[in-house]
Amino acid sequence: MALRKNQRNLTDWEKTQFTDAVLKLKAEKTGTTNTYDKYVQWHIDYTDATHAGPAFFAWHREFLRRFEIELQRIMKDDTLGLPYWDWSVDQAPPSWPFTKEFLGGNGTSDARFPGKVVDGPFAFDDPNNWTLHVFDPDDPDPYARYPYLRRQFGPGPGNPKSSLPTPANVQATFKATPYDVDPWNENSASGFRNMAEGNIPEPRPQMHNRIHHWVGGSMVPPTSPNDPVFWLHHCYVDKLWADWQRLHKDDVGYQPYVPEKDARTGHNLTDRMAPWHQKRPLDVLNTWDLGYHYDNDNYLMPNDVLYPGQSIATPIVNGRRFSLTYSSSDGNNLVLGSNQVAWALWLSTNQALPDGWCVMQTDGNLVIYDWSNKPLWPSNTNYGYWIYLTVEDATEKRSGHLQMYRWDDQTPIDWSVPPPKVGNSAKG
Ligand code: CU
Ligand code: CU
Repeated sequence: MALRKNQRNLTDWEKTQFTDAVLKLKAEKTGTTNTYDKYVQWHIDYTDATHAGPAFFAWHREFLRRFEIELQRIMKDDTLGLPYWDWSVDQAPPSWPFTKEFLGGNGTSDARFPGKVVDGPFAFDDPNNWTLHVFDPDDPDPYARYPYLRRQFGPGPGNPKSSLPTPANVQATFKATPYDVDPWNENSASGFRNMAEGNIPEPRPQMHNRIHHWVGGSMVPPTSPNDPVFWLHHCYVDKLWADWQRLHKDDVGYQPYVPEKDARTGHNLTDRMAPWHQKRPLDVLNTWDLGYHYDNDNYLMPNDVLYPGQSIATPIVNGRRFSLTYSSSDGNNLVLGSNQVAWALWLSTNQALPDGWCVMQTDGNLVIYDWSNKPLWPSNTNYGYWIYLTVEDATEKRSGHLQMYRWDDQTPIDWSVPPPKVGNSAKG
């Protein structure tokens, strides 16, 4: 199971692991191309069947998951998850991804190389020589076939807007139902899909579409995966869908995908999604089944790792959100917290520990290690089978508690360190 984390909370090591993996896929030859460019080519080849319609979310979910599996394969780490960029919040340095240390910054204003990205791991020049090979043959932009990555933040051709979407825009999108409406394209007057994709309300572009135009340069044409920020952008877009599905779930567990028929080919519930003909939108409705989850889910799965500052959390139910954070500011404890109180509901220990990391091991034990891999604190639940941990949300009987379960049969597991009662402010 891959844990997809907010890029603002990634450690320097995690950021480097992601960019190294991307560079390796670019360097890996396959046929006449390379693994990375194969994805860019897929994106332009199937643009019509995958945008401006209901399958927009489904096709990109499968596209991202396949790319994530490539990253895991090349790094020999099947817990590696795509990071997501919450562009409604992280709109400036240092929390946005456009830093020299992560994805590199805006393009240059040098008139000889307009928009050329000159820093970070994806600059055209040494040491990595990130080079574009896949172009849109119909692009009228004279710079569109230049082999270097380009970014031109802010307003530009096709985008009069100088700002990125806001949290209020995201909340309004979450309220939109149903999933999609007739005519199932960019002219659909309501529905979550067309609103989140960014065609409504006027003026365009909104939400997803606006980010492509705001970043500008290589992110505008259908070859947009040429810019690695594509993956962080679309990971957040996928998370929007996952969150929306959870907010509007029905008795089968999710808000149904529509339509079953009547949309153009490729966009109906059981249409095959090119080029992966065995996959249909029906097959990608649940991220758990696909092998990943987001850090705003209330689960810590076997192999999931939290580094300092990272957390899992429940949805907000009846105004309450509970979260479990591996905190570096408070003696490296696991901290159970709530959005309604300032104090910790529970701490794993009250000792100040050295810096480290926390993992839900496959032997069942939840363990904090220091950087030399010396165990600092265990849950003592190493019973030899997979266990997952949940933070129970406000609808559940043990609201706000931590609870472990056996992976295979959902049996509740008792901790040697019992999880706390809500409202207990005792430290330890
Ligand atoms: Cu796309
Ligand atoms: Cu896109």
